[in-house]
Amino acid sequence: MLPTIAWRNHSVVMIDQRKLPSQEVYVRCRTYIQVAQAIEKMVIRGAPAIGIAAAYGLVLGFLPLRAETGRSIESDFERIYRRLERTRPTARNLFWALERMRAAYERNRGLGLRATRTALLAEASAIEREDAETNRMIGVHGRDLIADGAAVLTHCNAGALATAAYGTALGVVRAAVEQGKKIQVFADETRPLLQGARLTVWELAKDGIPAVLITDTMAGWLMRKGEISVVIVGADRIARNGDTANKIGTYSVAVLAKENGVPFYVAAPTSTIDTRLEDGSRIPIEARKPEEVREVCGRLVTVPSVEVRNPAFDVTPAKYISGIITERGVFRPPYQLGSGRTNF
Ligand code: MRU
Repeated sequence: MLPTIAWRNHSVVMIDQRKLPSQEVYVRCRTYIQVAQAIEKMVIRGAPAIGIAAAYGLVLGFLPLRAETGRSIESDFERIYRRLERTRPTARNLFWALERMRAAYERNRGLGLRATRTALLAEASAIEREDAETNRMIGVHGRDLIADGAAVLTHCNAGALATAAYGTALGVVRAAVEQGKKIQVFADETRPLLQGARLTVWELAKDGIPAVLITDTMAGWLMRKGEISVVIVGADRIARNGDTANKIGTYSVAVLAKENGVPFYVAAPTSTIDTRLEDGSRIPIEARKPEEVREVCGRLVTVPSVEVRNPAFDVTPAKYISGIITERGVFRPPYQLGSGRTNF
């Protein structure tokens, strides 16, 4: 599998996810502004991958700084940090990664620009490396929830493309396949930007994992007919009580799963849990451009002047979630994440 993102020679290289699956092209970012724009335009997307990109973006922001300019490095740090932080508001991993970078910066404050740069690059690389390891552990904890011969429904893309490698929801699928189980994945196409059709199907095809593409509206009917064994999705932000923000449409899938007696799991690293939020009511929901709804793959499909709503995420109440699969194990309801009552 090609890496989603990599640090190469004083720049950050990302596979351009807007172009997949028809073109496999890479974008090279040489400045932190380019990284911020790549996140906003969804060249790179998926909460953990956004966090890794922002961490490397912060390193890029430091490259052109010169000690002798007399400007305060602190104010440069804040400027770079704030720009990267403004990119995608729902992804908890973005803020988590930037907070880690701030802590690394503060630990090395006063050691000189060269040492700070080295420390920031080491921290960003660690965030990337640890994410890949974390996803392997999510797979280990989640794989026994999938029976041999199961049909797994997923929504959006919570795969290798959304992370450093392996994926969260798709990591669980990969781990079950590595156990020798025969698994079929049903991929919701995921309007408006079709992450399921374009990305999930593409990466499963690369791995030879059987995938069936359906439109979002078909999921309920297939559940009713008994064709879906289990639902596994990723998460952008999880509140302490288990309420989970994920790609728009996830809530509908969860309600339909409950109605039809299909287990519904969220797979995510603990870095996606926002322990400051008691419940999901205060999770910020990103509103994206109306063109994404008016158009399909850049082609207008409606009246150009029509009013549009385009919330990029919804919040699934914890009562619909059978378990949250993390690198530390599977949490079950009632969720008290970060309270000390769980092992997290
Ligand atoms: O808008 P996107 O494509 O960034 O949304 C991504 C998702 O909703 C994913 O499910 C989530 O970030 C988890 S990725 C491991």
